[in-house]
Parts: sequence; structure tokens; C-alpha cells
Amino acid sequence: MKFLTTRKLQIALFAILGLASAQQPSNSTDLGAPSLPNASNAPSVPGAPNIPSAPNSGVNPSNITAMKAPPTLCTAYPDNGICHGFVDYSVFTKGAPVAMIEKQLGPLVNMSRLLGKVAPSCVDAYYRYSCSLAYPKCGENGAGPKMGCQSACQDVQHECTNIFMLTGKGVLPDCNKKSPLTGQPLSSDSSCNAIAPQIADPHAFYNLSAITPGVVMAECPAPFLKDPLAKAGTTDTTSTIYCRAGCCIPCPAQNYFYPEGWAVHGFLATDILRFISSIVSFFMLVSYLVLPDKRRHPSLLILNVSASIFLFSMVVYFSIGNPQKLQCANLVSVSTQDNNILCATQGAILIFSSLSTCCWSAALIVNLHLHTVWNLNFFTNRYGILNILCWGYPTVIMIVSIAMHQIKFEFANLCLVSVDRIFEIFFYPMAAVVCPAFLIHIATFFYIAKIAIQEGVQSDMSQSMSRTSMTNPTPARRHKHVITAVQIQWRALLLAMLACGTVVFYWIFYFTQIHRVVDLEQDRTITNHWLECMLSPGGHQDSCVTIIRDHLPPYGLMMAAETLVSTQGIWLFVIFGKSSLWREWNDLIYDLRISFGSRRKEKNGEQFFAL
Ligand SMILES: *[C@@H]1O[C@H](CO)[C@@H](O)[C@H](O)[C@H]1NC(C)=O
Ligand SMILES: *[C@@H]1O[C@H](CO)[C@@H](O)[C@H](O)[C@H]1NC(C)=O
Ligand SMILES: *[C@@H]1O[C@H](CO)[C@@H](O)[C@H](O)[C@H]1NC(C)=O
Ligand SMILES: *[C@@H]1O[C@H](CO)[C@@H](O)[C@H](O)[C@H]1NC(C)=O
Ligand SMILES: *[C@@H]1O[C@H](CO)[C@@H](O)[C@H](O)[C@H]1NC(C)=O
Repeated sequence: MKFLTTRKLQIALFAILGLASAQQPSNSTDLGAPSLPNASNAPSVPGAPNIPSAPNSGVNPSNITAMKAPPTLCTAYPDNGICHGFVDYSVFTKGAPVAMIEKQLGPLVNMSRLLGKVAPSCVDAYYRYSCSLAYPKCGENGAGPKMGCQSACQDVQHECTNIFMLTGKGVLPDCNKKSPLTGQPLSSDSSCNAIAPQIADPHAFYNLSAITPGVVMAECPAPFLKDPLAKAGTTDTTSTIYCRAGCCIPCPAQNYFYPEGWAVHGFLATDILRFISSIVSFFMLVSYLVLPDKRRHPSLLILNVSASIFLFSMVVYFSIGNPQKLQCANLVSVSTQDNNILCATQGAILIFSSLSTCCWSAALIVNLHLHTVWNLNFFTNRYGILNILCWGYPTVIMIVSIAMHQIKFEFANLCLVSVDRIFEIFFYPMAAVVCPAFLIHIATFFYIAKIAIQEGVQSDMSQSMSRTSMTNPTPARRHKHVITAVQIQWRALLLAMLACGTVVFYWIFYFTQIHRVVDLEQDRTITNHWLECMLSPGGHQDSCVTIIRDHLPPYGLMMAAETLVSTQGIWLFVIFGKSSLWREWNDLIYDLRISFGSRRKEKNGEQFFAL
């Protein structure tokens, strides 16, 4: 278990493979090409004449009669050899003692001890390559020795490149290298001496949990970054969630968990929507501030809703151009209110404006209800209380979040309350406003529906029974009042419905999906498995998505929720940007020009804003 301590790893790997890093790796020192005696020297090796009985090489010859091609050059492979399990044929040694060749394969054993558990596929591939290169298969019926396969060498390149890069010590074999015994390179034809893999899955992922704590990788392949805090022999790390053995997933990790580019482009799109929302809601805000007659009772509600939605949409300005500066404190860590002032500010504004949007929408709903159902103008002179409630309540919640240091970036694209506390601090206070409003809205809706149906029935009746229908004038007047109310207020009704729908959708999204994000942060094996996929040969963001997909909010749902909240301002504009608004602007500009023009004597362009 302890074999992979850093020092040992470094010393031993240096011993195995490090020689090569000082020289040209492919020339003389790779594992598969042990510097065996010259082919020309081989016959004169002292042991050579004794090969047929081979007593001095400790080999137990099993079937020497089977070796037809010059029998003295072939021998059986010993059971205790390094390549045992890989080599099960009589080997061509050109008379050299097996023990001598074995000595050259020593590094393989060290490599197996060091990487066998972390990268079994690499070790297996290296054995297959080295053994088939060092021990050509004895030819049958006088044929020449059969060389190992090019594909075995390419397997090593494939399976070992990443782990050698991570450890910084390995040296990949040169596939053109010639065997010192036969003078031939590895064979590329189909009849080469292919050795079967000795592990169940020759393309298994690396096993990162087999890395001993305290080991720090030499190099982190893209897209991973070096952990600035990691030190060999310690378990210091920038992030226990996103870093392993000195390599970290760059912030924000979600960019790498979805297929390449999806998260970035998706959030760019919702950011653009939010940006448009902020512009048009700002226009509505200014309209309701500037235009005459807008700063009175029912319009005043819309003014406040516009202000809230503008604040809610303008948080996108914090991430324009570079969302990372908002989401990330540095290359690796995510933002919290304590390490990124931008995140703190944006989060505070978002919390405040979400709640104030809900509050003012609720006020709109209650006003609608009182007006439609009870025919009351309750709010007309109560804006003092309304302002205190609808701006004060969000302020309190915002201050609580900041005081509890809970604002941070978690996922999606903005800083909000941390997932552990988001329900207590954010959603439940919001529910306290939205749920009653929602019920009241439903009541209003049913009332209107009921009246509308009665109205329909009554108009039928009034058509069929010409005079008798006039017997009951009081309900008719009330119905008329309701119809008028709906005609006047359908915009507010629609906006309140949209606002409620958005909030409810966002909640459902959070309630059903947030546990996935929490799991991902708490269960290291999930990220471990994903990292293994990414670091293993052929690993790529797009192919590793399947591993982590179930531990993330589904992309479509996340984008739908994000799009809904991002389009609030656009809805406001579409619903309330009615023609009377443009006419009022036109009049206002006209009036301004008149008073302006009387001084400047400039009159052209009066029809500029005409509709
Ligand atoms: C072997 O090394 C020499 C110089 O050290 C280099 O020029 C040559 O390309 C190397 N051979 C291979 C196959 O890499
Ligand atoms: C290989 O053989 C040549 C002569 O054929 C000799 O000069 C050289 O020293 C030998 N190399 C080794 C490593 O024995
Ligand atoms: C050697 O191989 C031959 C055929 O290849 C077989 O008949 C014989 O039994 C084998 N001898 C031993 C000792 O395995
Ligand atoms: C294998 O590793 C041991 C230490 O673990 C070292 O002493 C030995 O020299 C290494 N053998 C080779 C061939 O590198
Ligand atoms: C990975 O290594 C750990 C520790 O050595 C071991 O418990 C686990 O079974 C290995 N996993 C796989 C898939 O081999």
C-alpha cells in the first residue's frame, strides 16, 4: 500500500525510466529494448553451448524437441521469469542465457510495483511490448524467429502517455527499435507474435484511488491545472472537491462536466437575454418615472416592479465579457463573498432583487384581488407601508445572507446563497411571500372565470328572454365591474402569472435537482471516477460526460430555468410597453421640443417619434 510514497516513487521511477530523460529516450534505454549483447557476440556467450540442457540458467526445459529452428538458439521460458504469464512459448535467445536477458528486464518489475495499481493497463501493455521484444518466438520447422507486434508498442504509447506525463518520469518506447538479438524491428504484419493481455480490461481507466496520499503529480495534462498549494508529502490542497494529487479541475468545473462548450455557450445565451431584459426593464422604469400620470396608484406598482426587475436583470453586468471573474476567485477556487467582492456585490443585489420582485408582484396580485373581487382601492394611500414591506423585507434577508457569509458561486452562472443554506435563507422567505400571493391569484382567477361564465349565461338569457332579464340589475352591475377590471388589469394579471410561474418553476428545479450538486460536492468518488476517465488514455470531456451526467442538473432543465428568470424584463416590456406608452413618450418629447425649440428655434424632426 505504501509503495507509492513520493520519494520512493521519484527515486524508483528515476531509476527505471529516468536515465532516459537525461538522454534521447528512444535510443538505448527504454524498457523494451534492454541493452542485450550484440547479435554477433551472442554465439560466443559462454553459456551458449550449454543451452540445450540449460542447467546453468536455472531453466527447466520442458520440450526441447519441439524447437526445430536451430535448436541451440531456442530455449523454454522459465516459470519464475519476469515475463511469466506473458511468454508461454519457447523463446529465441540466440544462445544467450535467459538470466542475462532477464536482468535487462528488471525495470519492468519496478514499474509494475509502482504503477501496477494506478495504471494496470499501462503496465500490462509495457509487459506485452517488452517481453515480445526481448523474447522473439522461436520459429517452427526451421522458420526464423517470430518478432513481437508493432501494435504492442503502439498500445504502450496509448496506455502510458498520460501516466508518464502525470508522473513526469516514464519514457515511451521507440517503436522502430530493432531487437539486438535478431536485428529486426517489431513486425507489423498480422502474423506477428501477439501476446494476449493478462488483465481483464486492457483499456481500464487509471485508478486514482490507488495513489498514496501526499503524492503530487509532476504535470497536469490539459485542461487540468497545477494545484498551487499542493506539496509533496502533505495533503494540502486548494480544493478537496476539485483537486487530486496536485492537479485541479479549472474553475468553473461545470464547464468541463457538460459536453464541451455547452455550459459556456448556454450561459452566454441566457446572459444575453438577461442583458436585453435589463435594458428594456430600465426603459420601463424610466418611462414610469418620467411620464406624467405614471406615479400614481396602479402605475406606481408597475414602477416598483420595473425597478425590481431591472435590478434583478442588471446583475448580468457583473459577468459581461468574462464570467470567470465573477465565478472564480482564482484559476481553481470558486468565488465566495469573502474572496471575491464582485461575487459578494452581485449576490447581494440578486438576493435583494429576487425578493423585491416577488414582493411587488405579490402586491400587484393583492391589489388585483382587492380591486376585482372586493372592489376596493386599498393601496391607494398606503404606499408608505407597501414601500417599507416590499423594500424592507428583501433588505433584511440580504443582510442576513451577508452576515452569515453564505453568498457564493455554486453552479449556473451567478453568485447566490450557498446550496447548504439556500432553502432557509432564500427560498423559504420567498415562499412566505409567493405562496399566499399564488393562492390569492388563483382565487382571483376563479372569481373572474365564474363571473365570465355567469355573464355568458346571462347574455344568452337576455337574448332569449328579452324583458325578464332586467329583473336583477345589481349582479349585472357587479359583473360589468369585473369585466372592466379584467379589461383594465389583464396586463397586471398576466405579469403576475408569469412571475409566479417563473418562481415556481425555479423552485421545482432547485427542489428536485439540487441534491445532485450536493452529492457531487460531498462524494469524492464521483469526481474521482470522472477524473480517471479524463486522465486515462483517450479520455475527453465529451466521452466522460456519461460518468458525471447523473450527478448534475440536466442541461435542458437548467437552461430552461435560467432562461425563464432571464426573460422577466422582456416580459415586462412586452406586456406593459403598450401603444399608449409610446404615445405618452411622443407627447412628452413633443412638449419638450416645443419648450426647448422656443429657445433654440429648431423645429425640424417633430414627427420623429410619431407612431
Ligand atoms: C538516437 O539519438 C541520436 C542522438 O542522440 C538521434 O540523432 C537519433 O535520432 C536517435 N534515434 C532515434 C531513433 O530517436
Ligand atoms: C557489438 O559488436 C561489435 C562488433 O561486431 C563490437 O565492436 C561492439 O563492442 C559490440 N557491442 C557490445 C555492446 O557488445
Ligand atoms: C514435446 O513436444 C512434442 C510435440 O511437439 C510432444 O510429442 C512431446 O510429448 C513433448 N514433450 C514434452 C516433454 O512435453
Ligand atoms: C528497482 O527498484 C529498487 C528500489 O525499489 C532499486 O534498488 C533497483 O535498482 C531498481 N531496479 C532497476 C533495474 O531499476
Ligand atoms: C483502485 O485502487 C483501490 C486501492 O488500491 C482499490 O481498493 C480499488 O479496488 C481499485 N479499483 C479498481 C477499479 O481497480
